[in-house]
Amino acid sequence: MHNLRHLNRVSTGLSYLLQRERVWGQPVFFTIETINSCNFRCIYCPQSDQEHHFVNGRGIMSLEDFKRIIANLRSCFDVRIVSLHRDGEPLLNKRLEAYIEHLTELGIYVTVSSNCSLLSEDRAQRLVAAGLRMVGTDFCADAATYERLRVRGVWEETLEGIRHLLRAGAKQDADFRVVIKDMATHAASSTEAAGLMARTQALFAEWSDRVTVMPVYFHNALGESLVNLSKPSEAPERTLYTLCHQPWVNFTIDFAGRVVGCCRDLRSEYVIGNLLEQSAAEIWNGEKMMTLRRALTEKRPQDIGICKACDVPWQGSYSGRTPLEKVRNFFFAGAWRR
Ligand SMILES: C[S@@+](CC[C@H](N)C(=O)[O-])C[C@H]1O[C@@H](n2cnc3c(N)ncnc32)[C@H](O)[C@@H]1O
Ligand code: SF4
Repeated sequence: MHNLRHLNRVSTGLSYLLQRERVWGQPVFFTIETINSCNFRCIYCPQSDQEHHFVNGRGIMSLEDFKRIIANLRSCFDVRIVSLHRDGEPLLNKRLEAYIEHLTELGIYVTVSSNCSLLSEDRAQRLVAAGLRMVGTDFCADAATYERLRVRGVWEETLEGIRHLLRAGAKQDADFRVVIKDMATHAASSTEAAGLMARTQALFAEWSDRVTVMPVYFHNALGESLVNLSKPSEAPERTLYTLCHQPWVNFTIDFAGRVVGCCRDLRSEYVIGNLLEQSAAEIWNGEKMMTLRRALTEKRPQDIGICKACDVPWQGSYSGRTPLEKVRNFFFAGAWRR
């Protein structure tokens, strides 16, 4: 099984590097949204747009559908890591622990991205006990910056929420960690960013081996974020094109079981199939997915609605700037090796 997993990664990585429309391997990373409402309105997030939910509505995935979707995925792919978030705040799903438990029982590594505002001591303990292994969150040491960007967020409450999680991890002696994207590093130089991240790390000194702080990178997937964060005139230039890796590595599923072409398609505008109706393998190399991959390899992102405004092909992403960097980071680094 171990070798098969590596073979899968290599095949997927090669398919991306060789710009194949039909991927030889399988997705590396699975992202499943169980709920898409949010209690925050972060200015860099599409949730801050008052019309956001007019496109895709609001919804929650039942536990029963979730189990059907997982069974479908597992019948086609070797599912190793699942992230239980996409649009919205996953902890608004009051039964999230049951979804995590199901994955844990199947030996799957579970992560979640959360704003960490809804974490009592008890909930944090339950989430870690259910098998949650990693929480990603946006935070920083500067309360004013945090509250300006994370609209409706209260810095002290979030700090306490993150600490509850870390205490739970330590108390249960669990393989559990928190990854913080330091929001204050947005638009900071690398020297400034290092100082800012050290301040954030110091807030969690007691659990330093469980906390990673990294710089934030706000992108412009739906064409709004940069306008909110800066002036439109400061939008970066579109000069150097790099093939976006997302349609080669990601399988992103919304609350209704729909698979979308990219994890940044938060409004499910490019639906490539539905896991409650079709097999995962059929969707992965289906016509719509291949149309998306083809448009990107032919440098025509403007032909696909969700790619039109996205800056990833021009500016890179967390996974890197060049195809080789992306392959190294996405397929063979850190957590993805599981
Ligand atoms: C949409 S949120 C959903 C999960 C959860 N509510 C949270 O805030 O972590 C998932 C991730 O998307 C990121 N995100 C939202 N808008 C973004 C943008 N314009 N650029 C980069 N990341 C963004 C957030 O920073 C968060 O890490
Ligand atoms: S980034 Fe997360 S917390 Fe903020 S508005 Fe978007 S979904 Fe909500």
